[in-house]
Amino acid sequence: MKSILENRPALAKEVNKVAEVAGYLWQKGWAERNGGNITINITDLIDDEIRQLAPISEVKQIGATLPYLKGCYFFCKGTNKRMRDLARWPMEHGSVIRILDDCASYVIIADNAVQPTSELPSHLSVHNDLIRKGSPYKASLHTHPIELIAMSHNPEFLKKDILTNLLWSMIPETKAFCPRGLGIIPYKLPGSVELADATLKELNEYDVVMWEKHGVFAIGPDVMEAFDMVDTLSKSAQIYINSRNMGFEPKGMSDEQMKELTLVFHLPK
Ligand code: 13P
Ligand code: ZN
Repeated sequence: MKSILENRPALAKEVNKVAEVAGYLWQKGWAERNGGNITINITDLIDDEIRQLAPISEVKQIGATLPYLKGCYFFCKGTNKRMRDLARWPMEHGSVIRILDDCASYVIIADNAVQPTSELPSHLSVHNDLIRKGSPYKASLHTHPIELIAMSHNPEFLKKDILTNLLWSMIPETKAFCPRGLGIIPYKLPGSVELADATLKELNEYDVVMWEKHGVFAIGPDVMEAFDMVDTLSKSAQIYINSRNMGFEPKGMSDEQMKELTLVFHLPK
């Protein structure tokens, strides 16, 4: 069977980035079994021939009405599919969906009838809002980074901006490359519309959000950038935990050092 990636280098490039990142997530130990999901808004890369493709699934409900997604196309990891398999065979463990004109339902159009991720409500709500805001961001990523999740089990770290400031102070790069910090979302059922709504709200203020005792959700211009932000935060979490394991509370950068960094790098907060 012919893949829609054939003779479409721009589309293939974005899907290959997903595959590359899926491999990193597995290697990092953040993607046990089917853990995590990725969706990419590929609408700009869709040609007339793809627009004519007949659906290969029945009509499915999103669970929300998302007016900015009318006629949009997304590449989505499949539900219950493994990141380590997505890394090698992206079109067998993910699929392309088309949002229908009611903005509340979709069909799968290629390559295989792989049911999209169970976190589709969160991913699509976020994409809807990105388009509404005129954002150039096309990628959203959910993953299960060990150290960051471990930190979310401490109620002290769930208070507003405590974790952001702690992670920023571990190494200068974290604030420079994740300048809006890490938002916190109290525990909610995976895949729920409540989780989607809270994610959407928190991403207005932060680059990455923590789903308490579950994982993180990040957005970016492409999936590499979204991954890099989570990786940077995770590095800080590891420095913190390594320090604690050596028997001391890390001192962190001083307020003066943080202020200087913010000023010189023109950071927003
Ligand atoms: P899916 O396999 O449905 O993408 O779910 C994985 C996950 O991490 C749910 O939060
Ligand atoms: Zn998850």
